[in-house]
Amino acid sequence: MTAKMDVKTNPGGNFNLIAPVYDVLAFVVFGRKLQQAQGHFLSTIPPKASVLLVGGGTGWLLEQVLIRCQTERVLYLETSSRMVARATRRMTDKSLLGMVEFRVGDETSLRSGEQFDVVITPFLLDLFSEHTLQSRLIPSLLSVLKSGGMWLVTDFVAPPAWWQKILLWAMIRFFRLIAGIETRKLANWQQSLSDAGLVLQARKPQVGGMVSAEVWGQ
Ligand SMILES: C[S@@+](CC[C@H](N)C(=O)[O-])C[C@H]1O[C@@H](n2cnc3c(N)ncnc32)[C@H](O)[C@@H]1O
Repeated sequence: MTAKMDVKTNPGGNFNLIAPVYDVLAFVVFGRKLQQAQGHFLSTIPPKASVLLVGGGTGWLLEQVLIRCQTERVLYLETSSRMVARATRRMTDKSLLGMVEFRVGDETSLRSGEQFDVVITPFLLDLFSEHTLQSRLIPSLLSVLKSGGMWLVTDFVAPPAWWQKILLWAMIRFFRLIAGIETRKLANWQQSLSDAGLVLQARKPQVGGMVSAEVWGQ
C-alpha cells in the first residue's frame, strides 16, 4: 500500500471521523439498497480489465469487483486513510489482499502514464460542486481512462418525491458538517459527464428513483 497524508483540502471532504460508522449509518437509512445499486453493472466489466475504483469507502464494492470480475489490475484510490484501513482489513479477512493496490489520495495522486479500462465512482460525484466536477475531478479521471473505456457511476440524482428531496438535503447538510464536503446542493453530474464528452450507455434507476446506476463511455 502506498500512503500519503490525508488530503485536508479535498473538496470531497475528510471521511476519517465518520469511517467507523459509515456503513452502519448507510444501512440504517437505506438497508442494502445502496450496495445493490453499486453492484448493478459490475457484470459489464470485461475480463482482464484494469480498474480504477475511486472513493470506495470501507471496501464492500472492492470485494465484489475482486470476486466477480476477472480483473488484471485494481487501483483503490481513497482520500480517507481510515476508510483505506478498513478496506485493507476486509480484503485481508477475505484473502483478497494481493489482488489490489491501495493508494491514499485523490485524483491528483494518479501518476503520469497510468491508464485504466474502467473507472468506478460509487457515491463520489455527489460530494462536489459542478465547478469542481467540471474543472478538476472529471478531467483528471477522464485523462486516465483509456480510449474506448467505460466509467461506472452510481450516485444520487434529483429525486422525484418530496420526502426524498428532504432526505437528500439532510444528507448533504450532514456530510457538510461531519466531513466538510464542499457542495451545498446536488450537482447535475450527468450533465457534467455529458459536457466532458462522455456518452451514456446504460442506466438503471435505483432506490425509488433517487439513485442512478449508469455506464458512460467515450
Ligand atoms: C459518500 S462516501 C461513499 C463511500 C462508498 N463508495 C460507499 O458507497 O459506501 C465517499 C467516499 O469518497 C472518498 N473521497 C472523497 N473525495 C475523494 C477524492 N477526491 N478521491 C478519492 N476518494 C474521495 C471519501 O473519503 C469517502 O470514503
